[in-house]
Amino acid sequence: MNLNTDFIPFSRPSMGKEEEKAVIGVLRSGWLTTGSEAKSFENEFASYVNVKHALSLSSATAGLHLGLEALNIRMEDLVITSPYTFVATAETIRYLGAHPLFVDIEKDSFNIDPCLIEKAIKENKERVKAIVPVHVGGHSCRMKEILSLSAHSKIPVLEDAAHAFPVKTEMGYIGALGDVGVYSFYATKPITTGEGGMLVTNREDVAKRVSVMRLHGFNKDAWDRYLHTNRESWKYDIIEAGYKYNLSDIAAALGRVQLRRAEELRKKREKIAYKYISSLAECDFLILPPQSKEHSWHLFIIQLKEDKLKIGRDAFIEKLTEAKIGTSVHYIPLHVMSYYKSHYGFKPGDFPRALKKYSSAISLPIYAELTEEQTERIIRVIKEIGEHNYRSKYDLQH
Ligand SMILES: Cc1ncc(COP(=O)(O)O)c(C=O)c1O
Repeated sequence: MNLNTDFIPFSRPSMGKEEEKAVIGVLRSGWLTTGSEAKSFENEFASYVNVKHALSLSSATAGLHLGLEALNIRMEDLVITSPYTFVATAETIRYLGAHPLFVDIEKDSFNIDPCLIEKAIKENKERVKAIVPVHVGGHSCRMKEILSLSAHSKIPVLEDAAHAFPVKTEMGYIGALGDVGVYSFYATKPITTGEGGMLVTNREDVAKRVSVMRLHGFNKDAWDRYLHTNRESWKYDIIEAGYKYNLSDIAAALGRVQLRRAEELRKKREKIAYKYISSLAECDFLILPPQSKEHSWHLFIIQLKEDKLKIGRDAFIEKLTEAKIGTSVHYIPLHVMSYYKSHYGFKPGDFPRALKKYSSAISLPIYAELTEEQTERIIRVIKEIGEHNYRSKYDLQH
């Protein structure tokens, strides 16, 4: 492999001296698994997004699973969500023997359409037991409408805020608005612990259930069991058949530093997003996301206008790769994936907006470590590819 390359990766975490120091501190402390660092991370996170409870976990997938379980989702229940998401959103519904009730996204965004949620609730009243909106790329869903539907129907909301930290809205932080919210600290996410997640809630019943279920169904956590603060520390009971979803102190220490840097990192991504928007505005072969403050800018997704270009999305990506620019696609909708297609008999056209957005979408690099020079190079290359492959009037006639 040529390491001396000018390849621009799609994603890159921002790790500095503070993160190194925090991890080394834990390595030298003698306590590696869930303990005081995880506790502090939870307290700091809860106060950041202004919730009563924050529970650190090994991933957001674990958070979705535990959140749904705590909301009492059971066999054959229906959970409304969008097919325009990462598979974790739907597979965790399947873990519990329930079914995702997919509804399409909005015409002008990548997020679930509240009008279609309302329709799905009306048509499946008794069986719908939760709504899981996904804030795709960190762009806030229409939460006012979703929360009002939830209040009227008494169906709880679990926010998949895997991408959406930190996003402040007039109602509060995204992820902290519903009954439960889940954030991801996976390696590519806005703040990262390598692997990790956080579940937040103001509901005592949910917090209690999740804290038992995330660690084997113990009646007390590992910290209580092994730290000999009292003479009975070896004694414990198993009160449920739980899971192994706790976050280590090594990861939590990293998370605490990243949490302090969250707004600094978001501002850097926002600056890149605004630069893309202002510089690419002249490209009439592109649809760009609107400039928005209610956005973590975890993803920057452009869409190609098929009628303006001689090449399709896949070929456009190939050209970007040839120019040493890493990209991705968010998302291949779940209803076209083999498992969901065969299990539920979906046709590609069942969710036409999701399908259309998918076939034209390209996610560009956006992260704090992306330099101005790199951003400018990406913009230049996109313009060049567009100009060389622009569909003229002559092409349209033939
Ligand atoms: C929308 C969405 N939800 C959930 C997850 C799961 O996150 P994790 O990798 O922390 O389990 C992801 C991960 O990419 C995601 O994109």
